[in-house]
Amino acid sequence: MDRWAYIECMPTTKQDSKQPRSKFYELLQGQVHNEFHASQQYTALGVWFDNEDLPELAKFFYAQAIEERNHAMALVQYMMDTDHHVTIPGTGEVRNEFSSAKELAELALEQEKEVTSDIKTLTKAARSEDDFLGEQFMQWFLKEQVEEVATMSTLVNVFERADGNLFEVERFVHKHLRGDADDDDMPEVAGGKL
Ligand SMILES: [Fe+2]
Ligand SMILES: [Fe+2]
Repeated sequence: MDRWAYIECMPTTKQDSKQPRSKFYELLQGQVHNEFHASQQYTALGVWFDNEDLPELAKFFYAQAIEERNHAMALVQYMMDTDHHVTIPGTGEVRNEFSSAKELAELALEQEKEVTSDIKTLTKAARSEDDFLGEQFMQWFLKEQVEEVATMSTLVNVFERADGNLFEVERFVHKHLRGDADDDDMPEVAGGKL
């Protein structure tokens, strides 16, 4: 399914006294879906690793799932703060079947690259609409994507170098991928950051 197909199922009518949506806000609502989808996909990756008795990889992806949920809820908070109607979407298909552990890391890298491209599209829309607040709001997400792509790219490299020795991958994840330190710059998350 097209990444932005969710937008087409959304009501386009003005909701009560809320602001009508610009293109940027249409994309923001779509991105709430994309971030929740990323969260569900990372939950599935965590469960796959957990089931294979790889606890460090499981823990890493469970934490990533929570991060993506926080991203979604930060977008929700911004829409509420700027007086826009926001809906909580279902998420698309989640992949659960894999033939090797490395495939999961490759999927995670692919997913982060897609999200980076989503965030760039959003930033471009804000800029072309002279939505200065929206453009500034997207800066944190741009910075975050640099980190996320770098992390997943490292993980793919580690899988390649470990050459099938998953205990080496576990050791690396335990030592070097311990999740994000607290980020004081992160935009406010609706209901509080988990
Ligand atoms: Fe995200
Ligand atoms: Fe991410």
